[in-house]
Amino acid sequence: MSQKSVIYLKDYTVPAFLVETVDLRFELDATATCVESVLRMRRNPKASPDQPLCLFGHDSLELLSLSIDGVRVPDNGWLRQDEVLRLNVSLNDTFELRCVTKINPEANTALEGLYLSDGMFCTQCEAEGFRRITFYPDRPDVMAVFTTTLIANKNQYPVLLSNGNPVAQGSDETSHWVTWQDPFPKPAYLFALVAGDLSCAEDTFTTQSGRAVKLQIYAEAKDLDKLGHAMESLKQSMRWDERVYGREYDLDIYMIVAVDFFNMGAMENKGLNIFNTSCVLAHPRTTTDAAFQRVESVVAHEYFHNWSGNRVTCRDWFQLSLKEGFTVFRDQCFSADMHSAAVKRVEDVTLLRTAQFAEDAGPMSHPVRPASFIEISNFYTLTVYEKGAEIVRMLHTLLGEKVFRQGTDLYFDRHDGQAVTTDDFVACMEAVSQRDLTQFKRWYSQAGTPRLDVVDEYNADQKTYTLRFTQSTPPTPGQTDKQPLHIPMSLALFDSTGQAIPLANGQLSQLVELTDEETIFVVKGVLEKPTPSLLRGFSAPVKLFYPYTEEQLSFLLTHETDGFARWDAGQQLAVRLLQARILKGGEVDDALPEAFVSAWQVLLERASDDPAMASLLLTLPTEAYLSEISTVIDVDAIFNARRTMRRQLAQALEAQWLTLYNEMGSEESYRPDSSEMARRSLKNTCLGYLMALDSPTYLALAEQQFSESDNMTEQFAALSTVVYSVFTDSAREMLDEFLNQWQHESLVMNQWLALQAADPKSGALSRVKALLEHPVYDSRNPNKLRAVISTFCNQNTVNFHGLDGEGYRFLADKIIELDKQNPQVASRLLTPLTRWKRYDSQRQALMRAQLQRIIESGDLSGDVYEVLSKSMA
Ligand code: BES
Ligand code: ZN
Repeated sequence: MSQKSVIYLKDYTVPAFLVETVDLRFELDATATCVESVLRMRRNPKASPDQPLCLFGHDSLELLSLSIDGVRVPDNGWLRQDEVLRLNVSLNDTFELRCVTKINPEANTALEGLYLSDGMFCTQCEAEGFRRITFYPDRPDVMAVFTTTLIANKNQYPVLLSNGNPVAQGSDETSHWVTWQDPFPKPAYLFALVAGDLSCAEDTFTTQSGRAVKLQIYAEAKDLDKLGHAMESLKQSMRWDERVYGREYDLDIYMIVAVDFFNMGAMENKGLNIFNTSCVLAHPRTTTDAAFQRVESVVAHEYFHNWSGNRVTCRDWFQLSLKEGFTVFRDQCFSADMHSAAVKRVEDVTLLRTAQFAEDAGPMSHPVRPASFIEISNFYTLTVYEKGAEIVRMLHTLLGEKVFRQGTDLYFDRHDGQAVTTDDFVACMEAVSQRDLTQFKRWYSQAGTPRLDVVDEYNADQKTYTLRFTQSTPPTPGQTDKQPLHIPMSLALFDSTGQAIPLANGQLSQLVELTDEETIFVVKGVLEKPTPSLLRGFSAPVKLFYPYTEEQLSFLLTHETDGFARWDAGQQLAVRLLQARILKGGEVDDALPEAFVSAWQVLLERASDDPAMASLLLTLPTEAYLSEISTVIDVDAIFNARRTMRRQLAQALEAQWLTLYNEMGSEESYRPDSSEMARRSLKNTCLGYLMALDSPTYLALAEQQFSESDNMTEQFAALSTVVYSVFTDSAREMLDEFLNQWQHESLVMNQWLALQAADPKSGALSRVKALLEHPVYDSRNPNKLRAVISTFCNQNTVNFHGLDGEGYRFLADKIIELDKQNPQVASRLLTPLTRWKRYDSQRQALMRAQLQRIIESGDLSGDVYEVLSKSMA
C-alpha cells in the first residue's frame, strides 16, 4: 500500500532556503530530455539555521550530476528518499546549485510534469509537477525569477515557448533554441514550456495605461479556424478586470496553447496558459453554445489568475481556495456581466447544491481550507472551488460592492509578489470595513453544509411578523462539534397583491446577519400575513427549510423579482410532486395537479420575454439534485418519476410546446450571442418535451432540425432527443450519420461518445464497452475517458447502479487499470463509488465489495489510496 503520509496545515514552517533565480536549459527529446537547472539560493533568514537543504524530486528523475558553487557533490553528500533529495554538505548563506536530470516525456502517462500531447511537448506543474522535471524546493512559497532555454529539433518543434518574454534565439542546421525570461518571481507550479508544430492566432490588446500586449493563441493548424471566440473572450476578460478590479496585465505577451491531452480544463502558467482543447476551441459548426460559454469562462478564469493566483499566490496548498475560490467568484461575475446574471446564478447554485452539497455529505467532506491531506490533487474539489467562491461572494454581500473593492485593492497592493493565506485575504476585508470577521472565518475551517430551519408567526393584533432562524451543521469526518456560522440572509416579504413590503431599513429587501444558533427577526407594521422570500440570490451556501405551502411557492413563482428566488420557487414546487412520486416508486399515472399545469402554462406563455431563464424554469430538477436531497437514493424511482412527469407535462401542454418551438425557430444564420443562445436553448427545451410524446410527427421535426441546422447546438440537441427516445432505429441512423460527418473532429466525437454513454436504455454497459473499442476512443486521453467512463458512471444512473453490480465492477476494473497510467484521473473517477452510504443496503454491499477489490488489487497511488481509505473508514 502507499507509503505517502498525511501532511498537516498546523505543521507549516517557512522554507529553509529561498531561490533567487532559476536558469533552466532543456534539450528536448521525446524519450530522453536533459534538464539542466542552475539555482541561486540563499538561506532563509526567517528559518532556523541548522536545517539541511532538501529538494523535491519524483522517482522518475534520473540524476546525472549535482554540484554546488562549481564543486561536484560527492556521492555521500546527498541522499534520496521517497520524493526528497537531502544534501549533507556544509553550505554558505548563498550559493549556486547546479543539477542535471534526465527524464522521459513519452513515458509520462500521468500528464504531470513534462509530457507529450499528440507529439508536442507541454507541461503541467500545478500542484507538484515541477518535481518531475528537476530537483527543486517545489512549494508555492518559494518564488524565483525564471530564465528558460529550450533546444529542440527545428522541423519537429518549430515553436518553442516558455513564460515571460523571448530574449534570445539561435539555430544550426538541425536544431534551434530560444531563451525566455519571466521578470516576475513565481512559484515553480506556474512554470510552463511548450514545443511543437503549432499555428497561432494573433491580436493585440491596449491596456488602460496604454501599453500594447501581444495576444497569441496556439493550436494545431487544422484548428486555426476555432480560435476566434477564445481571443474575443480573452480581450473581454482583460477589459473587465481593468474596469471591475482595476487590474492591468503586466507582461508584453500573453499566450494560450491548446493541447489535447490534459488532466484538467486549463492552467494559468504565467504568460503561457495551457488549455485543454475542449476549453479553448470553438466554432459554430462543431461547438455547442454551452461549450462556447465554457470557453469564455475558462479563458476568463485563467486570465484572472494573473492577479488572483500569480501576482499574489498561495503560501501552501491548504490555501488553494485563496486563488481558486476567489478566481471562480471573479469568473462567475464576469459571465454574469456578459450574459444574464440571474441565469448564471441559477447555474452556479445548481452546481453547488447538487455536486458540492453531495461532496460535503460524503466521505471526502473537507473544509474550504483543509487541515490535512495525503495527495493535494485530491483537493481540487467543488468545495475548494465552488464553496470557496460562495465565501468570497458572502464577503461581497456583507461589505457591499464598494468596500469589497477597497478590500481587493488593499489585498493586491499589500501582498503583491507574496505567497499568502486566506487569513491574509480576510484581514484586508476587515481592514477596509472595520468589521470583525473572526466568526465569519469559520466558513473556511468548518466542513459540511449548514442547515437553516425557519419558522414564522404573524400577530394580527400587533401587526408584527416574526421569523425564527435556527442553524446547525451536521458532523463530518474528523469534525464532530460544529460552531454557528455568520450567515448573510437576504430576504423580502410580499403582501397578498404581490408587492414587496418596505422593511425597517426602508428598502424592499434586507440582509439579516445570522450569527447565533438561533436568531429572531421581527418586522413591525405588517398589515397582513406576508409571504417570505428567504435566501434571495442564494445569499449563503446553506440548506434552507421553511414550510412553504404550494400556494406560497406558486405565488413566489409569479411575483418574486429576484431571478434566483423565483426559479427556486418553481423548482421546489416540482420537487414536492416528484418526491411524492419517488416514494411510490416513480412510475405514477396520477394526473398532475391542475394548479401545477396552469403554472407551467403561464411560464410557457411568458417564455419569450426571457428565453434563457424560461428554459431553466421549464426544466425539471435534475436526477442529481433529486438524489442529493433524498434520504436513500432510489435511482430507478427518481429516473421514472422525472421521466413520467416530463411526459405528462408534454401531453398537457403539447400545443404550447409546439407553438413556442416554432416561435423560437429562426431563419437567420447562426450567431453565438446571448440572445441567440437563449433562443436556441428554449427551442431545444421545447423539442425535448415534444419528443417525450413518442410521436412520429415530432421525430420528423427532430430529424429535420438535425439535418437542416447550421450549428452544433441545434444539431446535437436534435440528435440527443432522438437517441433518448423510443425510436431506436432512427437513433442508430442518426448516430452513424453524425459519426460519419464529424469523425475527424475529436471534440465532437467526445460529445458523440458521451451521449451514448449516458443513454439510459437497458444494455448500456455492453454499449459502453463497445465504445471503448471504437476507433475514435483513446484510453490515454483524459477527455475520452471522461466522455465514456465518467459519463456512464455519473449520469447513466439506472444502468451504472444496476442490481447485478456489473456497473460497479466495470468502474473498479477501470480504476485498477488506470491508476498505473494516470492516478489523478483514476482518483477522480472513483467518486461515484465513494457515495455508497447513500444507497440501499443491497447496492451498498455491492459498491463496498468493489472498493475492497480495488484496495486489494495491489500497489495503489497515493491519490486513489487516499480516496479509498477515507471512503471505507
Ligand atoms: N489552476 C487550475 C488548474 C489545475 C487544477 C491545475 C488542478 C492542477 C491541478 C485552473 O485555474 C483551474 O482551476 N481550472 C479549472 C477550470 C476553471 C474554469 C474552474 C479546471 O481545470 O477545471
Ligand atoms: Zn483556477
